[in-house]
Amino acid sequence: MTSAGNDAKASFDELYAQADPRNYFSVLGSLDYAIPDLAKPIIRQVAAAFRAVHGRNATILDLGSSYGVNAALFRYPISVDMIRRRYARREMMDLTSEEVRTLDRAFFASWPRVQPERIIAADVSPSAIDYAQSVGIIDDGIAYDFEAEHPTPLVAEKLSDVDLIISTGTVGYVTEKTFDALLQTTTRAPWVVSFVLRMFDYEPIAARLERDGLTTEKLRSAAFVQRRFYDENEAKQVIGVLRSKGIDPAGLESEGLLAAELYVSRPKDQAAVLPLDWLVRVVSGRNLSFGARLVHVGREGERLVAPLKP
Ligand SMILES: C[S@@+](CC[C@H](N)C(=O)[O-])C[C@H]1O[C@@H](n2cnc3c(N)ncnc32)[C@H](O)[C@@H]1O
Repeated sequence: MTSAGNDAKASFDELYAQADPRNYFSVLGSLDYAIPDLAKPIIRQVAAAFRAVHGRNATILDLGSSYGVNAALFRYPISVDMIRRRYARREMMDLTSEEVRTLDRAFFASWPRVQPERIIAADVSPSAIDYAQSVGIIDDGIAYDFEAEHPTPLVAEKLSDVDLIISTGTVGYVTEKTFDALLQTTTRAPWVVSFVLRMFDYEPIAARLERDGLTTEKLRSAAFVQRRFYDENEAKQVIGVLRSKGIDPAGLESEGLLAAELYVSRPKDQAAVLPLDWLVRVVSGRNLSFGARLVHVGREGERLVAPLKP
């Protein structure tokens, strides 16, 4: 299902297999990698809806998690750009991976945790999972290729209580085979939130989810920028694939941007009660790095202060 799209896209595979994410943030950051920031409020909204429906917090599986970026952004009030800028200091570049991990552990621990959900990260890259675990941004990690192998008992045990499967930039690397393995392993009917590049066909995954009673909705009213194209060749290739599928690249890929769409799958009865359009709200500009808003500078007794308003 995915080979044409994968061949069209630039390969960053070596970035996913390092002992720390400095190069990942440097290279993808330079391409304005945006999807984790754009996905974050949506994933939080879905997690809130899950809580409202089930009366408990979801256990989340971040599929194709890489270094745990979605977990970090979901959990803490930080952005891709904040992490990228921190790594971009020359002093950080000179460190060993072990030193970076020690500092990152302290960095993440220094932020207030704003989401209580348990998060498990799964990726084919053992070093990325090892990093995410060692800096404490995930509760458990699974280095595994569900495309190639069926879950071992240990992996199945880790997956058994997953309620919500999320992914950004992963469909294309994974297919319905991975979702088949996951659905055969989880004991609860999970919700699935996938941000999928427009050149990939989600239908085979939606069909597999349907077999387990999960109905898939696509958010038609919004597209999510993943990143800029790496070069003209990538743009040409991707636009070629889109046109061959009858997808109009105008306003998105034609502007130099790889764009993803949002698919959400839930048990039929739950989807019927709360349609996707009501479940998520995209607020344009919400993720721009303006820093804190609603800052009011005033006097508190003798002191001039700028307290944050809620
Ligand atoms: C484009 S990156 C996205 C990473 C992260 N979700 C993000 O948005 O920053 C794709 C990720 O999929 C992972 N991947 C590739 N093949 C995979 C597979 N068969 N199973 C799980 N993860 C895979 C890669 O190692 C990489 O971390």
